[in-house]
Amino acid sequence: MTGGTALIQLRGVGLEVLAPAPTRILHPLDLDVAAGTSVTITGPSGAGKTTLASIIGALQPPSEGTYQFAGSEMMGRSKRDLAAFRSQHLGFVFQHSHLIEERSSIANVALGITDPTMSRMDRDQRCQHVLDLVGLASLANRRAADLSGGERHRVAIARALAKSPSVLIADEPTAALDQPTGQAILDLLAQVTARGATLIVVTHDVRAAEMADQVVSIVDGRRA
Ligand SMILES: Nc1ncnc2c1ncn2[C@@H]1O[C@H](COP(=O)(O)OP(=O)(O)O)[C@@H](O)[C@H]1O
Ligand SMILES: [Mg+2]
Repeated sequence: MTGGTALIQLRGVGLEVLAPAPTRILHPLDLDVAAGTSVTITGPSGAGKTTLASIIGALQPPSEGTYQFAGSEMMGRSKRDLAAFRSQHLGFVFQHSHLIEERSSIANVALGITDPTMSRMDRDQRCQHVLDLVGLASLANRRAADLSGGERHRVAIARALAKSPSVLIADEPTAALDQPTGQAILDLLAQVTARGATLIVVTHDVRAAEMADQVVSIVDGRRA
């Protein structure tokens, strides 16, 4: 892939933390991700996978290198700029679904919509639509506390999709789930790229690696 066509382009991106002692977390690496493709980040626990995902997700700046998103430089931007960038372009799914227990599925999904100008009717329609996409249309009004583990993850994915992010970043989304439920979630994530979004998934799941356009293996903070 030539660099110019990548949606996400990392060059020499690494992370060294200085406190409490100088520690190299991620050695400099290059990564190109074309729009609409999927990347699986794999590797042992403590390898640096979450660090890489959080750099891609503009949650943490690297200590070196350059990061271009759609041709625009991410380095040196203010925290406020980065927050606006995340809000506009990215959706996140984590190992734990982080739902508000007392609220309904659809109310949790609505939290993913960050556009303050969207009308209430458009917002409701959008939430119904993404709940339908994840197969939960019939559970829109059920309290999060009363959902199964797999259903909770579906709500978290719907919440991340609600704003139509150009990139969905999922960090070990299946780690807390049994095997069949985890596979269903991975299938669902694969559909995201089928619909044009770019997908970054951190997982140990072999099948996710098989399904990805690109596999990035991290071992001891290095791209293996
Ligand atoms: N900000 C930080 N300061 C110090 N150590 C960190 C920091 N972030 C991550 N680490 C360490 O870097 C290593 C990689 O962490 P992480 O990216 O979470 O690994 P993984 O997701 O592959 O399990 C771990 O040993 C972790 O404790
Ligand atoms: Mg991790």
